[in-house]
Amino acid sequence: MERYRIPLVPGPVSVPDEVLGMAIVNYGSGMIEPEYFAMYKECERLLQQLMQTRSRVVIQTGEGMLALWTALKSTLNPGDKVLAISTGMFGEGLAAMARAIGCETRVVAHEFNETVHDFDRVEREIVDFRPRMITMVQCETPSGTLNPVREIGELKRRHGVPLLCADMISGIGGVEVEVDAWGVDLALGASQKCLSSPASLAFLSVSEAAWERVHEVGYVGYEALLPFAAALESGEFPYTPYWQGLAQLKRACELIMEEGMDVCFARHREVAGYCRERLSGMGIALYPEAGRATCSPTVTAARVPEALGWEKLDAALRARGAVFGNNFGALAGKVFRVGHMGSQANIEMVAAAMDILECIVRR
Ligand SMILES: Cc1ncc(COP(=O)(O)O)c(C=O)c1O
Repeated sequence: MERYRIPLVPGPVSVPDEVLGMAIVNYGSGMIEPEYFAMYKECERLLQQLMQTRSRVVIQTGEGMLALWTALKSTLNPGDKVLAISTGMFGEGLAAMARAIGCETRVVAHEFNETVHDFDRVEREIVDFRPRMITMVQCETPSGTLNPVREIGELKRRHGVPLLCADMISGIGGVEVEVDAWGVDLALGASQKCLSSPASLAFLSVSEAAWERVHEVGYVGYEALLPFAAALESGEFPYTPYWQGLAQLKRACELIMEEGMDVCFARHREVAGYCRERLSGMGIALYPEAGRATCSPTVTAARVPEALGWEKLDAALRARGAVFGNNFGALAGKVFRVGHMGSQANIEMVAAAMDILECIVRR
C-alpha cells in the first residue's frame, strides 16, 4: 500500500492517529445501545457548533455525494424549479442532479475560474425564475475557489425563495460557516475533507423549512431524510449505524474545538497564503482569475507548467514523497491542486512540498 510522506491531496486527507485509533474498538450495535445515541447527539452538537446552526444535523453512512442526493431527493419533486448557481464542477453537478430528479432547472453559469461576484445578475434570475430552491457550492474543490454564501442567502431571504442548499463539503472545518445567519436550509458536509476523518460519513443540517418540505415530499428511498426525522427519539435508524466512523468524526470535531475554531481557520488562511506566495514565486499561475474569484483557504488550484505536463510533474513529486491532486474533466492534466485542508493545513508540510516543487520546476 502506498503511503505518502507529504500527502497534499484535497481529500481524503491524512487522518491523525488519534482519530484513526477510534476505529480499533468493537463498539457493539448502534441500533440498540443508548451509548450510540448519546455519541450521535454529541457529534451532532459539535457539528452544529462548527456550522453555526441550531438546526438538526443528520449524519449518514457514506461519502459526500450521499449528502447531495439526500438533500435534493428529499426536498424536491419533479417539476419544482431549481436555480443552480454554478462556478465549477460540483455546481454543474448539482444542476444535473436536479434535472435527473425531473426539476425545471436554470443554471447561473460562471467560468470555472470565477466565483459569484455579480449579485445583480443572480438577483435578476431569482426574480425572473422564482425558484423553489437555490443550489450553490461554497468551496469548488476542483477550482480552488470560495463562493460567498452569505450574499446568496440574503438574496434568498429578500425574495422569499423557500430553500437554499449549499454544498460546503470542502469548507466545513476549514473556513467560517454560519448556516443560520446566512439562511442556509441544507448545508452539506463530509468527514474526509477539513475534518480529517476517513471517508465514511456524510452529514447535512436541515432547517425547519427544509424539514417541512421533507414531510411534504415524503421521499422514502435509501438516501431519504424522512427516517431521520424521529430517529433519535424512537431509537430507530434506517440502517445499521457505523459506530466506528461516528467515533472518529466526533474525535475529529473535538480536535478542532480543542485547537479553537478561529485558530483553526486562521491556520488554514496562513497556509493557503504561504502556498500561493511560493507558487507565484516559482512563476506558477494560480487557476482562479485575479479580480473575478476568491481563492479558498482549504485548497489551491494552479496551472500545470506546460514545459512539464501533469504526468511528469506527478511522477517527479511522487519520487520525492509528495502527492498533489490532479483534476477532472476539462481541467484534468491542466490544473493541479494542493489540498491544505484539515490535518494538511500544516505549514511545515506545505513548505517541504513547495521546496520539492521548486527543485522540479527549476531543473
Ligand atoms: C465540493 C465537493 N462536493 C462534493 C464532493 C463529493 O464528495 P465525495 O467524493 O465524498 O462523494 C466533493 C469531493 O471532492 C467536493 O469537493
